[in-house]
Amino acid sequence: MRNPRAFLRPLAVGAPTPAAEIPFRPSRMIHFFDPSNEKMKAKVPDIAAKVDIILGNLEDAVKTDKKEAARQGLVEIAQATDFGQTQLWTRVNSLDSPWVLDDFITLVTEIGHKLDVIMVPKVEGAEDIHYVDRLLAQLEARAGLDRPILVHAILETAAGVANVEEIAAASPRMQGISLGPADLAASRRMKTTRVGGGHPGYLVRTDPVGEDLTEGRTTYQQDLWHYTIARMVDACTANDILPFYGPFGDIKDVVACEDQFRNAFLLGCVGAWSLHPVQIDIAKRVFSPTPEDVAHAKRVVEAMGDGSGAVMIDGKMEDDASCKQCLVMLDLAQALAERDPELKELYDL
Ligand code: GLV
Ligand code: MG
Repeated sequence: MRNPRAFLRPLAVGAPTPAAEIPFRPSRMIHFFDPSNEKMKAKVPDIAAKVDIILGNLEDAVKTDKKEAARQGLVEIAQATDFGQTQLWTRVNSLDSPWVLDDFITLVTEIGHKLDVIMVPKVEGAEDIHYVDRLLAQLEARAGLDRPILVHAILETAAGVANVEEIAAASPRMQGISLGPADLAASRRMKTTRVGGGHPGYLVRTDPVGEDLTEGRTTYQQDLWHYTIARMVDACTANDILPFYGPFGDIKDVVACEDQFRNAFLLGCVGAWSLHPVQIDIAKRVFSPTPEDVAHAKRVVEAMGDGSGAVMIDGKMEDDASCKQCLVMLDLAQALAERDPELKELYDL
């Protein structure tokens, strides 16, 4: 364990000083694209203008014989595109794969000045982050970067969940964590075959009303991901980093996707992955507070004055704790309004 002062010292001679804070930037959706796909590549400048984060994916969903083309494609796109305020991220291959070392070396030395965050899949413990931390410092020094590239871990192995608190605290480079429900389900040997979302078999049932065990018994589908998301949110917020929901694979089911995203938003996540343009608008809608919530939050904060004591608003008691929740909502609304003139007007901020 490094001492607290050493934590903020560069891990290689000539590497940039680690960031003491993770700056909050709008992060409602991490939009994935495959840089080996020429059609998708051509759309990147247009899509980048519509999203908070655009991510060149090198890992799963990219075929083995396309791994090098994807890496090279990302270098070309990053060099040719002005991303404006949109963050550029990449998801590298897993740490046990034959491609990951070249992913790091090529991307940091060739486009490190444009990359905000590197997403690392299948993180199992703090040791994985420590490895990436030192390697990135060495490469940043070689590339002459003046700010550190941040790291985002995917929570998608049973070991990762067991160690999520130490992963979140492993380095000042840690920017956040995403739930990866597909790999996590496989790693845990869950008996599902989906990418995120619920399952009709995972339910509770009301008690029998008579002799007949089937008649009149209502069932309620339960949330497979509640425990993991809640635990991830606590691990992230306790370490001042950002939690995200990951992928929702049923692209056609925009309704259930919205439900999954909203559950994550209400539990504290700042965004989710979008795997198709249709999910961009869902994430934008869900991860931006509603104008009604913002108006209510403003009323409470104004009525509470210095934040002490209690007031009644529409028959409900408001105090320091509800005022703090309203401030969370207002801070987010403010940060989003600064980027989005439409929201600024809707929120009347
Ligand atoms: C994402 O990578 C997942 O496995 O769900
Ligand atoms: Mg995965």
